[in-house]
Amino acid sequence: MHMLRFLAPTLALVGVVGIGAPVGASDRDREFVCRPRPIVIAHRGASGYRPEHTLEAYELAIDLGADFIEPDLVSTRDGVLIARHDNVLNLTTDVAARPAFSGRRTTKVVDGAVVANSWFSEDFTLAEIRTLRAIERIPAVRPDNTDFDGQFRVPTLQEVIDLVKRKECRTGRRIGLYPETKHPTYFDALGLSLEEPLVRTLHRNGYRHKSDPVFIQSFEVRNLKDLARMTNLSLVQLLWLEGQPYDAVAEGSTLDYDEMATPAGLRAISRYADGVGPEKTYFLIPRAPDGSLDVDNATNFVRDAHRANLLVHPYTFRAENVFLPTEFRIGADPLAIGDAEGEIQAFLALGIDGFFTDHADVGVAARNEFVGERDRGCGNRRR
Ligand code: G3P
Ligand code: CA
Repeated sequence: MHMLRFLAPTLALVGVVGIGAPVGASDRDREFVCRPRPIVIAHRGASGYRPEHTLEAYELAIDLGADFIEPDLVSTRDGVLIARHDNVLNLTTDVAARPAFSGRRTTKVVDGAVVANSWFSEDFTLAEIRTLRAIERIPAVRPDNTDFDGQFRVPTLQEVIDLVKRKECRTGRRIGLYPETKHPTYFDALGLSLEEPLVRTLHRNGYRHKSDPVFIQSFEVRNLKDLARMTNLSLVQLLWLEGQPYDAVAEGSTLDYDEMATPAGLRAISRYADGVGPEKTYFLIPRAPDGSLDVDNATNFVRDAHRANLLVHPYTFRAENVFLPTEFRIGADPLAIGDAEGEIQAFLALGIDGFFTDHADVGVAARNEFVGERDRGCGNRRR
């Protein structure tokens, strides 16, 4: 990956890291003013505060000011899209404690990896899924969230959309959806293709146009190319920090995420997608050996993606010390909340267009402060 010696993340820099050709001094100010404010995407809902991918987690994220909520999607046996990060249900539900389903425990190969002794969404009907209750994925890191274990259901995509519509009516705010197709090649092979029910559901609910507040994301390539033919909604190519998209593996292609992140790779993505979702540390600002943000070695990724006319929405910002660069940690407790706003602002200074965060309130505060400073810097107080 091409590395750039990082200029100090001054607000003036933000003004020149815009989409398109280099600009002159007066144009720079105009671009500075007109740049859309970065969006805050609630990663799996307000997953820092509630068990992920529940209506309660999504609702809290909306209440905390998130612009978009992010449902990851898998399929049930009867072809219904439900919000789960994985098809492996025991990671985030109480299925393992349900005697009625003990016989469903099995071992499978998912995207080339063995997943042993688990329960899988594709082996359950929606009616059966409805009997399960969500549990906290990382109880050792988020013990407070376990207070909610066993209380919340697993929602369908339609129920997530219904929540968004209700909240829009109550708040007068437009709230976006940022669904991710999980394991699309795997589900295709089971005859449970994700793309058709996803597009059908979104279109049926009035999400049809590029201007509608929807981004559909995937770590795979083929299904995004299929989606580009099926819908006008915006698409985002996710980039994992190593290896290949699984559909490339399945097709025997050598395409990998490093190649996709080069200028040529980004131009190729722009032919079927509107944005990229890079892993933040690998693709944007690495960590130094001491665990701090190595801003001197920030990459050209944002510039290159913007030149390819792609939005950049990195993932995932988390507020607990254990996830933060060392200079943003507060105190010695790894589970205590640190200065995640500081970390987010370092990435905002690169010119990103949005970001995924488990802590929507922190993300909104960081974004608002950043935008306020930016607009004061060019004499615009209206935005
Ligand atoms: O979709 C962006 C980010 O959520 C990707 O990571 O594993 O949390 O879905 P994951
Ligand atoms: Ca996701």
